[in-house]
Amino acid sequence: MTARKRILLIGATGSIGTSTIEVIAEHLDELELVGIAARQNAAQLEHIQQSMQVKHCVLTERDGDEALIEMLRNVPADIVVMAMVGSAGLRPTLTAIEAGMDVALANKEVLVMAGEFVMRAARTSGVRILPIDSEHNAIFQCLEGVPRKSDIRRLVLTASGGPFRDWTLDQMANATVADAMKHPNWSMGRKINVDSASMANKGLEMIEARWLFDMPPERIDVVVHPQSIVHSMVECIDGSLLTQWSPPSMTYAIRHALFYPQRRPSSTPGVDFNQALDLNFSPPDNQRFPCLRLAKEALQKGGTAPARFNAANEIAVEHFLQKRLPFLAIPQVIEHCLTNGVQEWTANRLEDILAADQTCRKQAAVFIADKFPSNPLTHDN
Ligand SMILES: NC(=O)c1ccc[n+]([C@@H]2O[C@H](COP(=O)([O-])OP(=O)(O)OC[C@H]3O[C@@H](n4cnc5c(N)ncnc54)[C@H](OP(=O)(O)O)[C@@H]3O)[C@@H](O)[C@H]2O)c1
Repeated sequence: MTARKRILLIGATGSIGTSTIEVIAEHLDELELVGIAARQNAAQLEHIQQSMQVKHCVLTERDGDEALIEMLRNVPADIVVMAMVGSAGLRPTLTAIEAGMDVALANKEVLVMAGEFVMRAARTSGVRILPIDSEHNAIFQCLEGVPRKSDIRRLVLTASGGPFRDWTLDQMANATVADAMKHPNWSMGRKINVDSASMANKGLEMIEARWLFDMPPERIDVVVHPQSIVHSMVECIDGSLLTQWSPPSMTYAIRHALFYPQRRPSSTPGVDFNQALDLNFSPPDNQRFPCLRLAKEALQKGGTAPARFNAANEIAVEHFLQKRLPFLAIPQVIEHCLTNGVQEWTANRLEDILAADQTCRKQAAVFIADKFPSNPLTHDN
């Protein structure tokens, strides 16, 4: 019997973490969960530890952030699934890379903040960054059919359009947290639900794609595709489009990343053509979803701008989730942080990115306190 592939799962209690465990449980003859981490959900982490017989377990709120770093440095594994959310995933990701492990990456904010540095570190360590984000996983798969980079015209990311796809700006002005949690196709964590509702998620994904696939910003486009079946596309120079399809479940991308470059059968069905299937595609509406435009501007500006986009968005989303900021103020916070008080945009070192991230978080918090000082919003949810 060949050795099982050893997996560290960081963010085990979240939505991606849960889907990852589902995939591992289906392939226990080939996959072994050797270490798990989460932030505060002790009960669920313990349940996973017992049910999957995991040897190493870190709860960062109880054990400290260093305990996570130590686990990544010391527990031998073949691949790390980064399923944490937000910029907090940057250091653990870089640690996993330095430890020589392939990284299956869902935690997109890591590449948005510091994509150039993360991809360089991966090249230096000779490890792979395997995208789990379904759009990037789709592009990764399509690119295997286009070995020559010069044959690629552009990458096209599909977007469901989120729960407010057909809402007017007036409706969005009163959007509640509960409204933002009602994603039409995907069951996800709280932050990405808000990001999907504002379409900041697609902006983050454009930046993620820029670094993962080393593609210039002007060759990355977005199309709204409400059914979430075509997960993204690669357009070749001759106009042919390569696409990857599967029903909207993250398990397809996770299974692909865990077994790459091989494939394994799964009990999950593919697209059902016995039912009539209508697929729609339309351009995104930059008026109602300004986060897309702002992300594009940040991407074009480069340097610390994407990290600032990400930091401002994280702070704004946190305040929205705490019912301290109206939904439509999210892009206002980002725009403020991208257009005011920036002395220096260059990012020669990772420290420049970390400094911009910290400054921008403070700037966003001050802007929110100043412009939206009222009591917590009174909406119901
Ligand atoms: N959900 C999706 O379908 C989906 C699809 C594509 C991409 N993504 C991306 O994948 C990432 C995860 O998303 P999600 O929806 O799975 O988020 P989620 O449900 O909120 O889960 C986040 C996970 O990270 C853990 N965590 C947070 N901060 C941590 C810290 N400082 N140290 C250790 N663990 C920490 C959480 O632990 P606790 O539970 O203890 O707080 C939880 O296990 C995000 O970057 C998201 O954009 C998600």
